[in-house]
Amino acid sequence: MSDRITTSKLEAMKTAGEKFVMVTAYDATFARLVSDAGAECILVGDSLGMVLQGHDTTVPVSLDAMVYHTECVARARPRSMIVSDLPFMTYSSPDVALAASMELMQKGAQMVKLEGGTWLSETIHQLVQRGIPVCAHLGLTPQSVNVFGGYRVMGRTPKEAKSILADAVEIQDAGASILLLECVPEELAADISSKLDIPVIGIGAGSGTDAQVLVLHDLLGLTEKPAKFVQNFMTEADSVQDAISRFVNAVKDGSYPQAEHTYR
Ligand code: KIV
Repeated sequence: MSDRITTSKLEAMKTAGEKFVMVTAYDATFARLVSDAGAECILVGDSLGMVLQGHDTTVPVSLDAMVYHTECVARARPRSMIVSDLPFMTYSSPDVALAASMELMQKGAQMVKLEGGTWLSETIHQLVQRGIPVCAHLGLTPQSVNVFGGYRVMGRTPKEAKSILADAVEIQDAGASILLLECVPEELAADISSKLDIPVIGIGAGSGTDAQVLVLHDLLGLTEKPAKFVQNFMTEADSVQDAISRFVNAVKDGSYPQAEHTYR
């Protein structure tokens, strides 16, 4: 598809100060709805472990599952860029990451996402050198929930904030095309977004990032106990398509996220 979203388009949007949008999708129907709503990116997220498979965490998600759902999404031939998560333990070394990323890219991903900072520099460098664009995920990295001892806001102490900023700079230097920041204070996310040249996508990171992402099931109001940063876009919508469009429009016109969705 000729007008497909590319990394250069996203960079140009950052430069122009235009917000862009990512939404998760795991199958062809929702990929079409997300793309038709005008979201620039579809994330085939390992959140599917929770919202589709019923697990408590993303840890049990297999590479086979990610490959299967990436293939389903790609069959919709969306205009949106397809970013697929590398699941738990599939990027523990550069070679393991290359093999796993090859599978996702060959099934239709245009970029892979992995969780972590400085320790991934060599892996990111090697992936990019071999033609695999990378989105790095910092802040609350859900695959490390067992290390954190639960889901919490990251970067509230000066030490943590400094470390997230240092990681962000390092992953950019290693060649990452996008940074995703999850559950960090608004001020820290805005500071990192202004310091980096690459686009920063936020979730629970306030309004100062270059883009926003939400999990599809959250924005459709299907989640039992949604996080503070979630808005249910179904409440005023007359269809699922309308709800996704409302989310896209709210990010673009700056009406989402509000202070009530933001951590300090
Ligand atoms: O897997 C996912 O859906 C994610 C989002 C929470 C950003 O990583």
